[in-house]
Amino acid sequence: MKTAANSAEKMREHLLELREVSFSYVMRGGEKLQVFDKLSLSVSYAEFLGIAGPSGCGKSTLLRIMAGLLKPESGEVLFRGKPLKEPTPRISMMFQSPALFPWYTVLENVMLALIHEKELSREEKEERVKVFLDMVGLMGFETAYPAELSGGMRQRVALARALVAQPDLLLMDEPFSNLDPLTAISLRREIETLWRNQSLPPSSVVMVSHDIEELVELSDRIIVLTKRPVKIAGIIEIEMERPRSRRSKEFYEYVDEVYTLLS
Ligand SMILES: Nc1ncnc2c1ncn2[C@@H]1O[C@H](COP(=O)(O)OP(=O)(O)OP(=O)(O)O)[C@@H](O)[C@H]1O
Ligand SMILES: [Mg+2]
Repeated sequence: MKTAANSAEKMREHLLELREVSFSYVMRGGEKLQVFDKLSLSVSYAEFLGIAGPSGCGKSTLLRIMAGLLKPESGEVLFRGKPLKEPTPRISMMFQSPALFPWYTVLENVMLALIHEKELSREEKEERVKVFLDMVGLMGFETAYPAELSGGMRQRVALARALVAQPDLLLMDEPFSNLDPLTAISLRREIETLWRNQSLPPSSVVMVSHDIEELVELSDRIIVLTKRPVKIAGIIEIEMERPRSRRSKEFYEYVDEVYTLLS
């Protein structure tokens, strides 16, 4: 749970809900690949939800459905109680490798996320972008181009871009898997700190990861998925104080629990 100020009431409300969602890809030959068959799950307000599952089961597809980028064949996706029909700036996504435009500077890359904010002037947008660049530790790099940055710094630009429109929900698809271990540690901490700070976006986070320890470190709940067609193998609630130490016996009991559900 986030902080004591967070009422239990609020935690029970759903920010995003999937109700009996079915989804298939249509392959080139015309045959269907069924990924989801009536899958239901929800993301609560202020929750950090982790998602684990076998390779190729449909985790990235699930995030794209949550983002409104893919439409379910049947079933419903509700965002703040209303059907999610298309992508919205209230939900943002961060990928394994940051998709930055090489010909734009750091500042311009982040500013792109404010394209829908018609009421803000260019100066106001720049101010906002600078606040978020500062937040992710990139102050002073506004005029740099992506090629001039390290992998970790590029992922920080992607984080600033995902947060600058102040979304309620941040979806992350293996966001740390391309980073060196030390950079991954510091970026994980920063994201956890931002998320725990109620006055800053995002309210809730959904993170897909193959790194079970990373999931146990950050998640309030971990949903473990099965192979296709995907079912929920189990849901584990992690009740450990934050920031969590990976050294405790309790920590490894949770890790084992996830592995048992995966196997
Ligand atoms: N655009 C697409 N068209 C057709 N099939 C697809 C498409 N994208 C993914 N698939 C297939 O759908 C299934 C689920 O893919 P998805 O990328 O969601 O899995 P994943 O759990 O994220 O995998 P990984 O753990 O390797 O990242 C896979 O069998 C994949 O081959
Ligand atoms: Mg994937």
